[in-house]
Formats: sequence, C-alpha cells, structure tokens
Amino acid sequence: MSDAHGDTIDALGHEDRRFPPPADFVAGAAVTDAAMRAEALADSEAFWARQASELLTWQEPWSRVLDWQVPNARWFDGGRLNVAENCLDRHVAAGNGSRVAIHWEGEPGDTRTITYADLLAEVERFSNVLRSLGVAKGDRVNIYLPMIPEAAVAMLSCARIGAVHSVVFGGFSSQSLADRINDAEAKVLITADGGYRRGEVFALKPAADEALATTPSIEHVVVVRRGGNEVTMQPGRDHWYHELMEEASPSCPAEGMDAEDLLFLLYTSGTTGKPKGIMHTTGGYLTHVTYTHRYVFDLRPDDVYWCTADVGWITGHSYIVYGPLANGATQVMYEGVPNHPGNDRFWDIVERYGVTIFYTAPTAIRTFMKWGAEEPAAHDLSSLRLLGTVGEPINPEAWMWYHTHIGQGRCPIVDTWWQTETGGIMISPLPGETTTKPGSATFALPGVSAEVLDDAGQVVTHGGGYLALTEPWPGMLRGIWGDPQRFVDTYWSRFEGRYFAGDGARLDDDGYLWLLGRVDDVMNVSGHRISTTEVESALVSHPAVAEAAVVGATDDTTGQAIVAYVSLRGGADVDVTTLRNHVATEIGAIAKPKAIFFTPDLPKTRSGKIMRRLLRDVAEGRDLGDTTTLADASVVSELQQRAAQAPAED
Ligand code: PRX
Repeated sequence: MSDAHGDTIDALGHEDRRFPPPADFVAGAAVTDAAMRAEALADSEAFWARQASELLTWQEPWSRVLDWQVPNARWFDGGRLNVAENCLDRHVAAGNGSRVAIHWEGEPGDTRTITYADLLAEVERFSNVLRSLGVAKGDRVNIYLPMIPEAAVAMLSCARIGAVHSVVFGGFSSQSLADRINDAEAKVLITADGGYRRGEVFALKPAADEALATTPSIEHVVVVRRGGNEVTMQPGRDHWYHELMEEASPSCPAEGMDAEDLLFLLYTSGTTGKPKGIMHTTGGYLTHVTYTHRYVFDLRPDDVYWCTADVGWITGHSYIVYGPLANGATQVMYEGVPNHPGNDRFWDIVERYGVTIFYTAPTAIRTFMKWGAEEPAAHDLSSLRLLGTVGEPINPEAWMWYHTHIGQGRCPIVDTWWQTETGGIMISPLPGETTTKPGSATFALPGVSAEVLDDAGQVVTHGGGYLALTEPWPGMLRGIWGDPQRFVDTYWSRFEGRYFAGDGARLDDDGYLWLLGRVDDVMNVSGHRISTTEVESALVSHPAVAEAAVVGATDDTTGQAIVAYVSLRGGADVDVTTLRNHVATEIGAIAKPKAIFFTPDLPKTRSGKIMRRLLRDVAEGRDLGDTTTLADASVVSELQQRAAQAPAED
C-alpha cells in the first residue's frame, strides 16, 4: 500500500469519539441488539432465506437457498418472482395504492406526486409499449435519461416483462453510450430530449443521435419530452414516449422470472480501459437491497426517504428504485444540482417534504461544508432522524460536520460501504444497534462476511490490508457481461475462494473497519469510479498526444482529482482546455482531468513501466524519496517544478 494509506492509518488511529445510538432512536428501531447478528452467524443461508420469504412475494418457492461453486453463486434456485410486482402490484393489492411512492421535484421547481397506483399504471402501459416495440424476455434495453420518474418507470417496465436494462448515466458522452449499447447489443434505447442542470437544459437526444450512428443493434428509440429543446426524430425509429403511452393498453401482467434470471447490467470502471458490464440477477439482488434498505435505514411506515444519487449509478438502482419501492417507502426524487437556485436547495427540499432519512455522498457533504453552516441553519431540519453516506471514505471532520449541522446532534449516521458489484450495502452500522466512530463504516452487516487480508492472503486481525468478502451474498454480481475470464481474474484470483474488493481497509483495536480507498488503478472522484487507463486512452486518442499517464491526487472536496501527465507527438501542439474537452467528449464531463501537465517524457522504470506512485507524489506535492529505479531522474525534477507553478483548472 502507498505512503498515503500509511498516513491515513496513522491519522485514523487517533479517533476516539464514540456515538452510541440515541435512546429515543432506539425506542422505535427495528434492530436494537445483536440478536440478528447471532442468527446470521449461526446459519447464514437460513438467515437469508428468512429475509427472502419475509420481505418478498414469490410466485413459486425456491428449491435450494444457495448453490455455490466458486465463483458462481445461484441463490434461491427454482424460485420464481417478478421484481416489478414486488415493487408495485403487491403494495396496491394490500390497499396502499394511494400511498405516495415518489415526491418528484424538477430542478426548475415543478413537482409531481406519484402514488403506488399511479406508478403501477404507468409501468403497465410502458411495459406494453416495450412489447409493441418487439422487446421480449432477455432482450437488452438501454436507458439514458435525466433524473425524472420515467427513469424508474423504464427500469421497472423492463423488469416487468423480463427485459434486461442497462442504464447509462446522463452525464456520459455519446461515445460512452455507444460503447455500452454495443457491448450489450441493446435493441431499444430510452432517452429524453434533455433535462435540467444548473438552471439550463442539457441536451440528451442529440448525444444519443451521435451514438446511434454506430449502434446497429438499436431498432427503436423512445424519447421522453422533458427539456423542451429541439430534437430531430428519425421516422420509423424514434418515437415520443407520450404518444406511445396514449396508444398503449393499460394492463400488463408481470412475467414470472427465475430467481437467477438477469435483471440488469450496469457498467463500471475497472483497471483496464474497457468498462465492465456488471450482471445482477433477480431474486438474490432484490432480497439483498430490500433487506438492507429496511434495516440499515431502519425504515418505518411514516418515513420520507431521500437518496440524492442519480439512477445512472448503482446507488440509484438499489436505493432509489428497487430497495425503497420493494419496501413500499415514500421517497423524494430530485432532478438537479444542490446549488440551484441557491446553495440551500437540498435543505429547502428536506424542509418542504419533511424528509426523515437522508442518504448522500461524502463529496457532497464536503461541498456543503465549504458553503457554510448558515445554509442548513436557515431551514427547519427537525424532520430528519437518520443520515447516511456512500461512495467513498468519509473523513472524520466531514462526518462531524454532517452530524452537527445536518443531524443537529440528534441523528445516527450510517456510513455504508459497498460497490456496483456487491449490489447492495455490505458494511454499515445498524443505527439502533451500533455505536459509531466518525469515519468508520463499522462492521459487516448480518449475513455478510468481510475480512482484512495481507499480501499473502492471511487474515489480519489488527491493522491494515486488503478488504475481502469471504462468503457469497445474495446481491453479488453474477459475472461480467460477455467476459467470464475477466470476472475470475478481477475478483477471484487475488485471494483463493474469496472476493477481492480492490479496497484497502484497516481493523482497529475494537474490531471496527476503516475503509481506505482503492488499491488498484481506479480513481474515486466524487464517489464515482473512473479508471486511470480509461482517461489515458481518451487522452492518447487525441492526434497530438503521444503518451499519457493519469493519477488520482487527493482532493479536499472530490476525494480524488484526476491529474494527467501528457507528452505530445513531435511537432504537435495542443492546449490544456482542448485536451480536457476531448476527454469530456470521449468519456463524459466527470472524467475531465483537473490538471494536465505537459512533459517531454514520462518517468519510467528501466523496464519501461510508468511510475504512477511517483506521479501521484508529484501531484500531491510530496517528497519523492528514492528515485534510483528511474531511467531518467531529471524528468521528475522538471515535473515537480511545473506542478509547483501550474494553477489547477476548475
Ligand atoms: O472504494 C470503495 C468506494 O467506492 C467503491 C465502489 O464504487 P461504485 O461501484 O461506483 O459504487 C459506489 C456506490 C456503492 C468501493 O470499492 N466506497 C463506496 N462506499 C464507501 C467507499 N469507500 C469508503 N467508504 C464507503 N462507505
């Protein structure tokens, strides 16, 4: 592990603040003692089976809880169920049709109140639309939408008819969209004219059109009208959502699905340039997200829950769409940014809807800290009773600020560690049971087994190492679409029989887990995974660039910031802005390097390997220590001078 991790370990070792669950929270909490942990420890399969049968409605019972042939798991084999039926029909059938499923708020301030009955009606119609466009069970459907209710409708409609959705975050470029459509060979694309962001309409359909020029598998495109921006519709291929919905028949029975049928693909960055299509299936995934949403957030009937993620990420899949809806929760869904029209937009939303559970990312919390405590203080946040974080390690200062200024000292905080691959939360406090420490995700949840391992795969009982998951869990990924070998190589080869998460972790004296960030070439920028190789490939695809090396440098707000070192082809010339925009076009604005340094050569070992650790040290302004393994040490001193002079880009 790098020096940076060593520093973190030292710093965290001094954390001695403790926050036991407050008595009035415990009074109404679902889990208040270690009984659930003991039950899961005694027999984890029986534990998960109990969750699956208590929390979900099955059309047919399973014949076997778990079939585990490393690394392939089958959960609840033989069982049949439908995810949309679990998220919608059963709540309506139980008499809860008039319960609000989604309080939606657009960035300009327009609102929609959608009950479970409304959502079911919309999903049934749209399921028929998809069928009429030729979508059948097992077909892939791509979704490229802003944060509007139609995103949830599209996902649930796929689930209803057994189609596999692949959602692409609306901030990704047309090139990224095209790559994902082609990898999945999707038949239909669902997009919108545009959406609202920072007070303006951002166009989606034109980006989709660019992608569609290179995606032969797409037969139909459904376009939701949201931005009102002008778009071109290709006759025969492109259809307006509202027109198709008008013609669609209102009733569509839910398809019975096998527990192990594919529910969705979601692409995420790995250490190589090509994003991985992470596969999640039906019964185990829904069990895992429903269970975690209920117990980690201690969900109660009168809660108003709000997760600020985008549906384009796993957090949006598991904790906006599937977990909350399967639990029949009432939630807020917000389209835009936290600083439009003012820096208090989130607190205004919390106040107006009476939000009780608030789930966001550390990068957002650090941004709120910068904006100042006056913003939340100007609003009535007394409805809040529980706070959550996800996506990256939260530094103790940000945790304390969240606790003090948002939770007003009253709300437990659940720091939830998990990944696109895990499907749902794995390590987190249970808020009525666990004494928290600022910055620690505490313990593996009941039913989950996590260990810290050293280089040789030996269990570390105290101190730092690599995080591994040692038993299969229901929401685990079932593979990488079209690449079974990469699945084995990435997750199951580092430690035999155990899942390698790619994160560093440390166990303290009390057995608390502290997550320390990635140990591979994946950066975490504002809680989003971006691979160094992906950004390097994007840079090198510019005709002026000969070679590029990209590192993640520690950043106060975004966790890590992308720093690129670029050497140009002989005689070529290009400026920083052009290159940053080029990366945005290739991948998306989230992958734009914060700083780019030009250098005639990259520092390499004598065997030709780029020394990334050293580049990270340069980017973070650290002393370099021993550089004797370098082929040409002068390259580095020159880079250090440039780094010291250059202003960072916004
Ligand atoms: O490094 C860990 C970090 O985010 C990675 C997973 O990213 P992604 O698949 O995009 O999913 C993010 C939302 C679940 C992990 O490998 N990470 C996520 N949550 C935490 C975290 N690091 C520390 N603490 C967390 N609570």
